[in-house]
Amino acid sequence: MTESVLGVLASGRGTNLQSIMNAIATGQIKAKIGVVITDKPEAKALDRAREANIQAVCIDRKKCSSKEDFEQKLVAALREYGVNLVILAGFMRLLSPYFVQSFKDRILNIHPSLLPAFGGAHAHRDVLAYGVKVSGCTIHFVDEGMDSGPIILQESVPVLPGDTEDTLAARVLEKEHSLYPRAIALYLDGKLIVNGRQVIIQS
Ligand code: GRF
Repeated sequence: MTESVLGVLASGRGTNLQSIMNAIATGQIKAKIGVVITDKPEAKALDRAREANIQAVCIDRKKCSSKEDFEQKLVAALREYGVNLVILAGFMRLLSPYFVQSFKDRILNIHPSLLPAFGGAHAHRDVLAYGVKVSGCTIHFVDEGMDSGPIILQESVPVLPGDTEDTLAARVLEKEHSLYPRAIALYLDGKLIVNGRQVIIQS
């Protein structure tokens, strides 16, 4: 059996990356992380990877001549490290069809709202502005659209009176940290069957 090698893409502090590393350490996720890649040199995710002796690479978007150039470098690095499942963990860039096709059906993302509501880069702000009473997080396959691929798992949290973006984000983040490892484990254990938009989870 081929070993499962994850490539984690992140742009920031990397707490979801950390939850995945922890889940690998406990055996919940049976895989290794081949490489962590960020698009920004200051991303704390790089430090987390290095502290865990995981390859950490920055492909600085600002130093790439174009989106194509950036994505070609991303794909090349993921291939170099033998990645067969791409995990977007707070990666704040929309990927083009070229990238999505390069890892077809092998890219997962986490989004901090209950999709299809409140996609995009400001989910918590939009949730509060709209006044919904429930929010949460979603793990989904990545397709060519924004936050639009088939949904694997979701978990809800209440939106409480007086919530700010920070308090809501913290409540959602706590759920994210258990939901993403669960979804990755289901994928790697071969329990997910995708049928159009439906993701069937086998017991
Ligand atoms: C998380 O809320 C995730 O859902 C969103 O970006 C945030 C990343 O946080 N896509 P972290 O870098 O994993 O701490």
